[in-house]
Amino acid sequence: MKVLVVDAGGRGNAIAHAFSRSEKVKEVYVAPGNAGSLFFPKCKLAEIDGKIIPSIRSIEEIVKFAKEKDVDLAFIGPEEPLSLGIVDRLEEEGIPAIGPKKESTILEASKCWTKDFLAKINVPIPKYKNFDDPEEAKKYIKDEFRDGIVVKADGLAAGKGVYVCDSIEEAFRAVDEIMVQKKFGSAGDRIVVEERLRGVEVAFTAISDGRSVKPFGHARDYKRAFDPDDFDAIRDFYMGTMKRFYTKAEVERLFKAGKLLNPNTGGMGAVSPHPFVTREIEEKIMDMVVEPVVKNFREIEGKKYVGIIYPVIMLVRENEELIPKVLEINVRDCDPGAQAKFPRLDCDLFDLSMAVIDKELQDFEIKFSDDFCVAVCLVSGALKGREGLKPGYPGDHYTNQPISGIEKAMEDAVIYANGIAKQDGFVTTGGRVLTVVGKGKSVEAARMKAYSAIEKISFPGMRYRKSIGLEVD
Ligand code: AMP
Ligand code: GLY
Repeated sequence: MKVLVVDAGGRGNAIAHAFSRSEKVKEVYVAPGNAGSLFFPKCKLAEIDGKIIPSIRSIEEIVKFAKEKDVDLAFIGPEEPLSLGIVDRLEEEGIPAIGPKKESTILEASKCWTKDFLAKINVPIPKYKNFDDPEEAKKYIKDEFRDGIVVKADGLAAGKGVYVCDSIEEAFRAVDEIMVQKKFGSAGDRIVVEERLRGVEVAFTAISDGRSVKPFGHARDYKRAFDPDDFDAIRDFYMGTMKRFYTKAEVERLFKAGKLLNPNTGGMGAVSPHPFVTREIEEKIMDMVVEPVVKNFREIEGKKYVGIIYPVIMLVRENEELIPKVLEINVRDCDPGAQAKFPRLDCDLFDLSMAVIDKELQDFEIKFSDDFCVAVCLVSGALKGREGLKPGYPGDHYTNQPISGIEKAMEDAVIYANGIAKQDGFVTTGGRVLTVVGKGKSVEAARMKAYSAIEKISFPGMRYRKSIGLEVD
């Protein structure tokens, strides 16, 4: 069988790696993929006339490739091609695909719509209100501000449209950036303003064939850019961002006073399974969130959901009970949660995918091993170059830096590349560069594996968090 995985980064390489472990699968193509897609047996980059597919948005090229190669299955990683209708196009051409159709991507593509839908079907969510007028939003923020407040752009904003605010002023600034300065274009025509929740955050995933839905593993996702005590890295980042000098003591003082923030990223690492999520909590999330969403989406809204669904859950303690409240819904797998989850998959991903396509998921047993995986992202950090000091991911960063030690590190860990290219050797191409995954019987054993492998890798500006897997944000 021939499988096509659509993704550009680490998540796609983790999915391709899982397909390569299936005996039924002879070839795995990744579009556009990256140089790290070739780390795994049977995996190749998708090419048309000797050229790789330019982007995850190149829907027609991807469909053309799938037809030319006569692939048996396509598996779509990111939300962007899904929301552009790639599954609809592939199915028109008779190619089975895992992922929701365009109309079903509204669950991720409109936070306002989804909040109203979740409220209507009584799925637990934070107190919220949608706005299309910045002044009305500000009035609500003033009235409702308690212990922080969250402002979110309605549409897709590449993971950057959420502002968790500690003060009314910060929330006003968020409203202005999104609605007045239009930082995310029309994705910011509307916003959600919601109560800030405190609790344990879970990257929970499930998979559906449109009829039934089953749990598909979970992870703890580390979204903050820095370890909260890594003042050297925080200082380098803010010197690069503000273009001014800070002493370490000054940065520490400003950070502790909340004047310098620990920025959110797409993810700096993950551990799977989520150490806090028991079987009982998993069942509760399925009963209270996932099943009602998929069922009512079909029955009330008339939209089928096929593929992976990834609600971001905050487990909140209320009256001695843990309630799973939904912060948002994604129509795809988590990144880098997927990199921590897929190496634990203990069933055949091709068989599972065909069970989804054939609507026989009900009878399929999804299995994950009891091991823990710790996935640590190596990112392009602060670096001085021809254009001066750049702050590094999640800010502006240098690329095209030579990377050494990948092969050596592979002896101890699995490596999923987020953004690398091959020239004479490997070079960096993005903010997130490599995800190094250690596996072990405990979180600590998996951490040791990941971090000892990382010691073998280096590139100019390389930075990573040391606390992935620990009880910190
Ligand atoms: P989202 O893209 O909605 O998942 O938001 C990105 C991140 O912001 C989440 O992973 C949370 O860490 C945080 N966040 C979003 N909504 C809330 C909320 N209501 N309360 C606290 N944190 C939130
Ligand atoms: N790591 C966050 C996400 O995949 O949305």
